[in-house]
Formats: sequence, structure tokens, C-alpha cells
Amino acid sequence: MGVRPRSGRGTDVRLGRVGDVTDASAVTTAAYRAAVGRFATGITVVTTALDGVDHAMTASAFTSVSLDPLLVLVCVEREARFAEAVLTTGQWGVSVLGASSRGVSEWLATRGRPLHGQLDRVPHTTGPHTGAALLTASLATLECRTTDVREAGDHSIVVGEVLAVSTVPTEEGALLYYRGRYHTLGGVEAVRRT
Ligand SMILES: Cc1cc2nc3c(=O)[nH]c(=O)nc-3n(C[C@H](O)[C@H](O)[C@H](O)COP(=O)(O)O)c2cc1C
Repeated sequence: MGVRPRSGRGTDVRLGRVGDVTDASAVTTAAYRAAVGRFATGITVVTTALDGVDHAMTASAFTSVSLDPLLVLVCVEREARFAEAVLTTGQWGVSVLGASSRGVSEWLATRGRPLHGQLDRVPHTTGPHTGAALLTASLATLECRTTDVREAGDHSIVVGEVLAVSTVPTEEGALLYYRGRYHTLGGVEAVRRT
């Protein structure tokens, strides 16, 4: 027998320990953020080049979707300036950030940062398939071409075919986001210390 959705406080003996349970109609933004914030994610920077200008944005809502064909997706807030740029170009890059790139992540998540020159202090190359910036200090990069866009509430789900990938030869660990904070995971240095 499945576990029925409930509302209210208490302990579900089948599950062991349960916190406050809230009906969808009463879920606040804060409660929602707290719940989904317990899903640890990696962090990427998504990029695209429009009319010779590099656009970039920190994004954790990146997911591998399909192996055949190779598809990934990123959820982009419709109000973010990156949204209009990537929907216009239809081609984009993804740079998976390592443990040392927290500063880059914070910078490219800063609302209203200057659009022009936002990558001037972030070493990068230009992806040959998309013209999108690919960050030099990343753990891996992908170049993608948009195949589908779904509007979903205040975000656009941008699905892309993977045109090229690169994994950077480094032992650096990953940069993570968990419970609204940055963390790092793994890496040779971290393993050696324990
Ligand atoms: C850790 C972290 C992850 C984020 N992930 C996303 C994401 O997946 N999608 C998104 O649209 N915004 C995400 N943001 C917020 C955007 O980076 C931010 O709204 C954007 O850079 C604002 O730029 P703008 O002023 O050019 O619109 C994230 C921010 C942080 C700090």
C-alpha cells in the first residue's frame, strides 16, 4: 500500500520520522525553498554570445536528460537577462564549476551586474561550435544547441542537444549548493587530509 499524502503535524510510523507536512495550497516560498534546498546540486555557469557580447549566468538547475540523443536542460528565470539572450541565439555553453570557483559563481549570480565585460576577469575560451564562452577553470564544459523550450511558471526550461563536451584534467573537487550555502566536495586535497 502506498503512502497517502497528508496534511498536518505528526509522525508517520511507516516512514519513521516526519516533520511538518503542509498542503500545496499553504506552501510558502520560504518552506518551498527550505525543502528543495535539501537537494544538493552542483553549480554551472551557462553562457551564450549575442551580437558579439558574452552573456553568462550562474545556474544550478542544470540536468542531464537523455543519452540517445544527447540532451541536457537548464531552467532559466524568465526575468533574467540571460533568458532573452539564450532564447535568441539558440546555442549555449555550460561550464561545471569546481571548488575554487565560488567567487565566479557569486559574481555571475549578482543581479544587475554590468552586462558588458562581465567575463573580463574570468578566464575563458570561445566554444568553436557555439561561440559561447567556456570557463577555463571549470571541471567540464558542454556546448549545446536548443531543441526545445517549455515555459514553466516563472522559468523557461531550455533543452539542448549536446554538440561537444570537454572534461578538464584536474583533481579539483566540485562546488556544491546545499541548504542555501556553498560547499565543496571531494578532490585530491580533501581526500589526502582525512
Ligand atoms: C547557487 C545559485 C544557483 C542559481 N541557479 C539558477 C538557475 O538555475 N536558474 C536561474 O535562472 N537562476 C539561477 N540563479 C540566479 C541567477 O544567477 C541570477 O538571477 C542572475 O545571474 C541574475 O542576472 P541578471 O541581473 O542579469 O538577470 C542562481 C543563483 C545562485 C547563487
